Amino acid sequence: MALLQTLVCMVFLFGFQFCNFCCLSTTDMAMKETKIKIWKFFKVIVSCLLITTLVLFTAATIRTLSLDVNVGLQLAHWEKSKNISLVIDQRHREELLGNFKEALRIPTVSFSETESNATALRQFDAFLRKAFPTVFSSSVVHHELVANYSHLFRVQGSQPDLVPYLLLAHIDVVPAKESDGWEAPPFSAKEIDDFIYGRGTIDDKCAVMGILQALEYLLIRGYTPRRGFYIGLGHDEEIRGFHGAKNIVRVMKERGVKLSFVLDEGLAILDGVISGLDGPAALIGVSEKGSANVKLSVTMAPGHSSMPPRESSIGILAAAVKRLEENPLPRLFGHGPERETFEHLAHKFGLPLKFIMSNLWLFSPLLGRVLEGKPDTNALVRTTTAVTMFNAGVKVNIIPSLAEAYVNLRIHSAQTLQEVLDFIHATVGDQRVKIELIDGFDPLPVSSSDERSFGFQIIKKTVLDMFPTLTVAPGICIGNTDSRHFKDLSNDIYRFAPVWFKPGDAQRFHGINERISKKNYEELVVFYFNLFQNCDIQKLPELHASIHEL
Ligand SMILES: *[C@@H]1O[C@H](CO)[C@@H](O)[C@H](O)[C@H]1NC(C)=O
Ligand SMILES: *[C@@H]1O[C@H](CO)[C@@H](O)[C@H](O)[C@H]1NC(C)=O
Ligand SMILES: [Zn+2]
Repeated sequence: MALLQTLVCMVFLFGFQFCNFCCLSTTDMAMKETKIKIWKFFKVIVSCLLITTLVLFTAATIRTLSLDVNVGLQLAHWEKSKNISLVIDQRHREELLGNFKEALRIPTVSFSETESNATALRQFDAFLRKAFPTVFSSSVVHHELVANYSHLFRVQGSQPDLVPYLLLAHIDVVPAKESDGWEAPPFSAKEIDDFIYGRGTIDDKCAVMGILQALEYLLIRGYTPRRGFYIGLGHDEEIRGFHGAKNIVRVMKERGVKLSFVLDEGLAILDGVISGLDGPAALIGVSEKGSANVKLSVTMAPGHSSMPPRESSIGILAAAVKRLEENPLPRLFGHGPERETFEHLAHKFGLPLKFIMSNLWLFSPLLGRVLEGKPDTNALVRTTTAVTMFNAGVKVNIIPSLAEAYVNLRIHSAQTLQEVLDFIHATVGDQRVKIELIDGFDPLPVSSSDERSFGFQIIKKTVLDMFPTLTVAPGICIGNTDSRHFKDLSNDIYRFAPVWFKPGDAQRFHGINERISKKNYEELVVFYFNLFQNCDIQKLPELHASIHEL
């Protein structure tokens, strides 16, 4: 593709040169003959180019039309389900909203890497036992505390040959101060216009409570799952899950558990967020970007500012930082799972976007260039570089001996941590700048999302059962979740909850006025209630013949 593009550019450049050349008035015959020859040659090239363009255009149109049907398994392919349905009446509504609000009022804040509110975490444990008596007393549920405050539930299936799955969520929240501009105190769970406000409403107590509430109702109705499953609730996700999630993984590994799939927080239902898309889309995260924190430092002998050296540690470091900002890592759009997102959504765009997105084999460089224009979409296109801290100097008249800066990089799926480090070394290109990796990890493996992918298709079916007009597509998480610790237990990790995100809602996440509508929380309970039952489906539907043709 790059070759083709180069060729096109060369032909245009050549044509341009030739026109300039024609404009020179000359009477020299030899020159005239040469001109005629070149003109003929140019005509051949232009014809070739036109034919190539026509062929490409036809191929692209065919592909656009063939993708203009929903991609993959649709609801119609599934057998009619015999699921118990959860009808939420007034009594249920009061009960489930009451439980949810009580959970929000317990300030399970992770303050810093080392500081949590242990009192609140213990209070949360006691609260769960009170709110979900059936879960905690059922003979098919085994519960244990892990690392003092995290929870692991194992729900026994009646058919032990079915590989179990795991639902993950986290109890802790990031700090919140009312004075930052909250419309309601962040731990009040106050209702305003049918929304419940509070830290944790979307990250991630809606899932913690939604999952357990759904299980409580399912057990009360006497449902016994065929496929066993686990529920893991971490208590320190916001500070990287080094105690909670990591120990849950350790416990499961010691027992030799293998998981069919994992479902954690991450992506959501985007409604009006992607401009140009017709209708809302549910994006199911199939991977997460990698991450690296890099420290740059320059050390020099200190001196008096009256006799400064030609370059200071600050100047050297500032130049290095500037080089990193001016030289972003290469554009990799189309080489990671973001490609699938666009291909799945293509049929819901109008022309010309539909045409472009259906033909990323041709247009990914073009689309990549458009996407890098805005910070939120640039994050999909490449490994991002953010200079987050810069410290130097102690006194106005002292040449500082030490200057240091921290850079946070989020690594694109098509790159590795090592490649990013090599790039930084090459870009800084100054021996005087010391470069240290503080911490980092590779991008997460990409989970399957094809027609044979059990976890993906079950989640998709559960979404479509509730919201038949949604478009479901695989997506990529820019941030990280507890689920990244589980990659040795399963190949298929998904990050999704049916939380509705409208324009502006993304800022509420870790920001002010985090909220969820009452209706949306009820939908979450119903979603998990249906998901538990759909996971008992033993086999995915046979593929429709027309899908093979694609
Ligand atoms: C920690 O949690 C307890 C119990 O919920 C609460 O009373 C207390 O105010 C919290 N501490 C801080 C510093 O937020
Ligand atoms: C659990 O708590 C005990 C004492 O309160 C402490 O010694 C231990 O390190 C904690 N365990 C973990 C994994 O945090
Ligand atoms: Zn979270």
